[in-house]
Amino acid sequence: MTDGHFRQISFTINDRERRLRVDIRKSLAEVLREDLGLIGLKQGCGVGECGACSVMVDDVLVDSCIYLALWADGKQIRTVEGEARDGKPSKVQQAYVDEGAVQCGFCTPGFIMATTSFVEKCKGKNVSPGDIRKAHAGNLCRCTGYQNIFTAIEKSIESD
Ligand code: FES
Ligand code: FES
Repeated sequence: MTDGHFRQISFTINDRERRLRVDIRKSLAEVLREDLGLIGLKQGCGVGECGACSVMVDDVLVDSCIYLALWADGKQIRTVEGEARDGKPSKVQQAYVDEGAVQCGFCTPGFIMATTSFVEKCKGKNVSPGDIRKAHAGNLCRCTGYQNIFTAIEKSIESD
């Protein structure tokens, strides 16, 4: 239902159904952060370059800053908040902690979602260091120099 600049949409967010009146001009990142308080994802560049806002929509990794909230109608969204279960970090989150792959942490929620998506997609397949780099090429980190992140990703694949 449209009402001026607003429309009623429904989606599942981290396994919970939500019905929401959204501003059709807002990105999914804005709606998740401002309207739903899911501030794990970060608004970095705002133009699809840095990956800090990465979330999964129907199991596809997207930059939520350039994805209209409207497009999420009827879809399943996963954000970093949904990855820990029963108070325990996911395997990917734990690998990032264990490998010291987090410094300021601004890029981390986006990386966690990119790695989670990658690990789920490459289950049972042989993965090269080049595949890992390519799958994370849309996520930028200004602090770590990437090596610890790549080690955490390798560990996430091994432990899956
Ligand atoms: S904030 Fe979305 S890609 Fe940078
Ligand atoms: S840890 Fe600071 S930007 Fe990645």
